[in-house]
Amino acid sequence: MEQYIIKGGNPLVGEVEIGGAKNAALAILAAAIMTDETVLIDNLPDVNDINVLLDAIRGIGASVHRIDRHSVRINGRSITNFNIEYECIKKIRASYYLLGAMLGKYRKAEVALPGGCNIGSRPIDQHLKGFRALGADVDIEHGKIIAEADRLTGKHIYFDVVSVGATINVMMAASMADGLTIMENVAKEPHVVDVANFLNSMGANIRGAGTDVIKIRGVKKLHRTEYSVIPDQIEAGTFMFAAAATKGDVTVMNVIPKHLEATIAKLVEIGCEVEEFDDAVRVVSKGRLKSTHVKTLPYPGFPTDLQPQIGVTLALGSGTSIITESIFENRFKYLDELARMGSRASVEGHSATIEGVSRLTGARISAPDLRAGAALCIAGLAADGITIVDDIVYIQRGYERFEEKLKSLGAVMERISSEKEIRKFRLKVS
Ligand code: EPZ
Repeated sequence: MEQYIIKGGNPLVGEVEIGGAKNAALAILAAAIMTDETVLIDNLPDVNDINVLLDAIRGIGASVHRIDRHSVRINGRSITNFNIEYECIKKIRASYYLLGAMLGKYRKAEVALPGGCNIGSRPIDQHLKGFRALGADVDIEHGKIIAEADRLTGKHIYFDVVSVGATINVMMAASMADGLTIMENVAKEPHVVDVANFLNSMGANIRGAGTDVIKIRGVKKLHRTEYSVIPDQIEAGTFMFAAAATKGDVTVMNVIPKHLEATIAKLVEIGCEVEEFDDAVRVVSKGRLKSTHVKTLPYPGFPTDLQPQIGVTLALGSGTSIITESIFENRFKYLDELARMGSRASVEGHSATIEGVSRLTGARISAPDLRAGAALCIAGLAADGITIVDDIVYIQRGYERFEEKLKSLGAVMERISSEKEIRKFRLKVS
């Protein structure tokens, strides 16, 4: 199993290019099959999750032509199979977006029910509520969601929970339903807006994405388009906290600063200097960072996907910080790993209390999930000595060229897979 080995203590300095948003791209790739014409999508992040979903789309019969690492041509005309197997959903739960796409276009779909994951149980009841409201018969049999509809008719849908996945999945199905759908209590994340813009570029009629109410007038057919995915605000935020935690000076390039407002506000609050440009943000961290209280919320609140990253940063702050994770029920596991590096934190229900310490020391730790894994690498970069991070396959699911980008900013780290390489690295850096 591959690992990262990191020698901490170097401030990260320089510029880093941010890639396309994974969580927009996954939904856009699924929506691309909703037309029988060819769709060109670029600025895709070259990460495992994207590659697995492209295999799934190929698996149902669509033609998928990878032009280069960041762009692909998809044509859904040749789809014959409306069945997404458990094997696929286990690898990438976002393949459930094919449910909304196939229901909208073919009025039928069978998708294995996704299980929970490391950060929580992650039910999909709101997705199913939306499909049923549009007139689909949705049953769960033998671990599969079986959805069929003679007709899909626009409806007024009020979500009980603000859900990114349900908002996007139901929006896809409604975009080809008959009549007007009004969706309320919806997610407003930038990637929800990106998917709506993508569908509109194919001829859909979706208004209000990014606000509390989305109105959709269904259309009979969707057509070809060429589309570029928005930059990944979570990748950008990850590098911004890496700058903060290592007392560095990092400029994230090719970002949309507006998408980073909550992140920038917190970085300023804990003592970083932040400079915004048209499509870049610079983060400078000099002295010891301050403590703060942060609560994760749906956009435009502080994103849950940056909660582990601010957590490891605050572990080195002065004073006591409190983090409240209001989105997922099990997203503090990284604190157990961080404790092995000398941090002091305690978790009570949805809140973690973090007592800042003056130093962290390198240790052997493992990545519990995608974002916590990236956060623990930040801890290793800020710690004294050598840190080895196991299970980095989680990190590679959502971060393209993670160690190359960190090394370009001055990180002393390698991707390794043997004890021999650990010895070699220790010799090299000693
Ligand atoms: C998306 O997950 C992202 N994944 C997650 O990013 C992100 O953390 C999350 O949105 C919140 O922003 C992708 O986009 C592929 P939700 P999603 O539905 O859609 C509850 C990453 O690191 N809920 O907004 O699954 C749910 O349990 C990943 O890139 C229901 O109760 O999240 C959670 O408490 C991790 N019923 C809350 O809503 C439902 O039907 C928000 O979940 C759906 C969700």
